[in-house]
Amino acid sequence: MSGKITFTMIKPDAVDNGHTGKIIDHIIQKGFKIVAMKYTRLSDEKAGEFYDIHRERPFFKDLVSFMTSGPIVAAVLEKENAVADFRNVIGATDPQKAEAGTIRNLYAKSIDANAIHGSDSDENAAREASFFFSAFERF
Ligand code: RTP
Ligand code: MG
Repeated sequence: MSGKITFTMIKPDAVDNGHTGKIIDHIIQKGFKIVAMKYTRLSDEKAGEFYDIHRERPFFKDLVSFMTSGPIVAAVLEKENAVADFRNVIGATDPQKAEAGTIRNLYAKSIDANAIHGSDSDENAAREASFFFSAFERF
């Protein structure tokens, strides 16, 4: 059965460009309830751990460098079928390929600076939420 929570980060480009408020409103309008939220900044170590699955990929160094370049907004979102529905709300990884009206289509500039993260599975949603919020360690 699909789960009820997903995890998101508004990435440094979108925070820096002043899109935080519009993106949070977009998420709420799509029916997600914000159950935890934090304005913070990732260390190299924490960003590397978060994206550990991509450690051997050619873009890993650039990804960590970008994700630590400025503040981010981390949040846990609740909705039925949260993970899949939220991936539809954010759009494809490459904003050039993201469907019209998705967050990446509206606010992202490139595949590196792509405005927002969304968990890709229930298992990763639980892992990522607990990574930032101790209240989610039981999930
Ligand atoms: P995210 O984890 O940040 O939500 O992004 P995603 O699932 O859509 O994409 P993923 O495959 O998990 O990749 C994580 C981030 O790495 C960068 N990336 N660059 N140059 C490339 O081919 C490439 N592929 C991925 C993107 O910034 C992506 O968001
Ligand atoms: Mg991903």
